[in-house]
Amino acid sequence: MLDNKNVKLIDGKKIAAEIKKEIAAEVKRMEAEGKRCPHLAAVLVGEDGASKTYVASKEKASNEVGFTSSVYRYPATITEEELLSAIDFLNNDNEIDGFIIQLPLPKHINESRIIEAISPKKDVDGFNPVNVGKMILGFSTFLPATPFGIQMLLERSNIETEGKHCVVLGRSNIVGTPMANMLSRNASNANCTVTLCHSKTKNLAEITRQADILIVAVGKPYFVKADMVKEGVVIIDVGIHRVDDSTSEKGYKIVGDVDFDNVASKCSYISPVPGGVGPMTIVSLLSNTLKAYRENVNK
Ligand code: GUN
Repeated sequence: MLDNKNVKLIDGKKIAAEIKKEIAAEVKRMEAEGKRCPHLAAVLVGEDGASKTYVASKEKASNEVGFTSSVYRYPATITEEELLSAIDFLNNDNEIDGFIIQLPLPKHINESRIIEAISPKKDVDGFNPVNVGKMILGFSTFLPATPFGIQMLLERSNIETEGKHCVVLGRSNIVGTPMANMLSRNASNANCTVTLCHSKTKNLAEITRQADILIVAVGKPYFVKADMVKEGVVIIDVGIHRVDDSTSEKGYKIVGDVDFDNVASKCSYISPVPGGVGPMTIVSLLSNTLKAYRENVNK
């Protein structure tokens, strides 16, 4: 329950809708100039339910902004060599501006080898080591979707980051590690003093209580409790979990990594789950695809 009227909810759904509108307007402008639309492709291997849902949402969002979207589906039995040749095709098809390989891949496939095979020019997930290197050096590149989306959330909520102590919980390759790097850069919506905490961090609550901005990506429901944060903190909750809830019709509810009901009243801003970070990740992917398209058609 949110009983403190001074707490501002960061409305990811609204911000994502605004950015999608801007992208759609840009696509319309280009169409009016007689140009083809940007084209985002996705590769889906196997039958994982969550992966199917993600790819369907990406396809829907692409269509909403006027992109061409295609999905290449393969059975979980595909060999690594077969998947590499599918990537080779996508790398060389000039009508496809960017593509993603939905992760995780089946265990018999070496994920690193697959990610390295994606052309850095089409790697709109920003996972290829070339693009990760560019991100670390502050070169123009495709930023990974979740941290990029979080930066846009902070920017569009007018949250000052410069000089702030930002504590990032979690060091995954797709969220915590790039987020810590991006926020420490000498750039707009950055310039933070960053502390990256992980499963081996000692005295975690002592560190989180120093955070002006706390980014939580630990993958554990209700992990951040009220006594772990200071008054006035800004919290971005990256977690998404389905927990049993007998009071709901569906029998479950969606919660984040933060114990929202007990923590929110201490915050100046907090992103809710659902409706916070989630809607922004797909928007980041669309934004990266637009960048890939511009670079592809203007090369
Ligand atoms: N699986 C979970 N998140 C992601 C993502 O951002 N990109 C891809 N390709 N796969 C994922």
